[in-house]
Amino acid sequence: MTSSHLGLSFRDQGPIQVRAHRVDSYTVDVDEGLLSGLAGLLTDVLDRLESPDVVIAVDTGAAEYHLGAVTAAVLSTGRPFQVVPVPAGEASKSPRGLRALHRALHRHCASRRTLLLAVGGGMVCDLATTAAAGYMRGIPYALLPTTVLAQVDAAIGGKGGLDDNGAKNLLGAFHHPAAVFVDPLLTGTLPERHVRNGLAEVIKVALIDDTDDLFHVLEQHPDQLPTGQALTGIVRAAIAAKLRLLAEDPFEQGDLRRLLNLGHCIGHPYEAATGYRVLHGEAVAVGMAAAAAHAHLAGVTALDERDRILRLLDAYRLPAVLPEAMRERTWEGMGTVRRVRGGPLHLVLPRTPGHCTVTDDLDRASYDKAVSELAARP
Ligand SMILES: NC(=O)c1ccc[n+]([C@@H]2O[C@H](COP(=O)([O-])OP(=O)(O)OC[C@H]3O[C@@H](n4cnc5c(N)ncnc54)[C@H](O)[C@@H]3O)[C@@H](O)[C@H]2O)c1
Repeated sequence: MTSSHLGLSFRDQGPIQVRAHRVDSYTVDVDEGLLSGLAGLLTDVLDRLESPDVVIAVDTGAAEYHLGAVTAAVLSTGRPFQVVPVPAGEASKSPRGLRALHRALHRHCASRRTLLLAVGGGMVCDLATTAAAGYMRGIPYALLPTTVLAQVDAAIGGKGGLDDNGAKNLLGAFHHPAAVFVDPLLTGTLPERHVRNGLAEVIKVALIDDTDDLFHVLEQHPDQLPTGQALTGIVRAAIAAKLRLLAEDPFEQGDLRRLLNLGHCIGHPYEAATGYRVLHGEAVAVGMAAAAAHAHLAGVTALDERDRILRLLDAYRLPAVLPEAMRERTWEGMGTVRRVRGGPLHLVLPRTPGHCTVTDDLDRASYDKAVSELAARP
């Protein structure tokens, strides 16, 4: 039978419209001591997904402290499981690391229903998200983030990334998890520098969305890092704020993404200029300070609001000054971003906690003025 027998003429018709919508729905559990109840939470997820087995991809740095408890929880679910250690360090978040993880999944006969459980910081969360998106065209995965940065940021939003050709997150995919399990107690084994690093992203999100008065809460802990229930409250509020910002735009295509870029326009090129020797949150802190300084110079924010932001960065011993030796290379890096995007940078400027403004760009004179002013601070 030809198309004409059906009364259809393909030649007469326009393009065939295809709509392929998918709604992903999952929970983010946040609880101090959640690890002790992980078996029950995992069982629910495994039952819902009808997953026969689990592959645990664990960062070797996190494994040292937490793998025993995680494997005990998975054992209690009654599902067979395998452990795949992922060497600590950003180098594993690469096509090579991806290939190693895919090879391990294949070796362990992972099926389309196998649950991939990632345990570790942002590196392993990004790697596992990307690996789960690609393996057999998509398998379910869950995240158990163990760094503050991963708990408040990298594990939230279903965004995977790999570094390639010297560019960060050049490859990757959006692939939402089946569940995210957040236990702030797990971050107790982190070096202090990594806790501060994660808190920089908390300060960022508090400047964008302050529904839970998060900025003020952070100001209550000036001399000591939050722990226990205080940390749990902060992590929970930061996650809720990020999810509120993503709710309308889960694939980060619109303007909301711009707000989450606060501190990144300058911070990201700075981080790259140092060869990633500064941590991501530290670079974002420098970027936020520069954005706050420029916001004041441009009349967008008052002096006392700018100082409030700088005081909070100081209180958490986060850097605010762009080192002189990095100024030129950071500016050049911003130029590269403009060229790749084919347009302006869209600098996010903080006004008051919970309120930011987006400006088109930053000219060289304003950039120099803002970073010089910060360098001259006593
Ligand atoms: N997908 C996203 O939306 C998103 C957002 C922000 C950052 N990221 C990515 O996250 C990565 C950075 O994440 P990170 O800062 O967590 O770094 P990381 O994952 O490299 O972890 C930092 C270090 O902490 C160790 N570690 C992890 N958990 C530990 C624990 N509980 N106790 C002791 N040591 C522990 C690791 O072995 C590693 O040495 C970057 O690759 C960045 O691009 C992704």
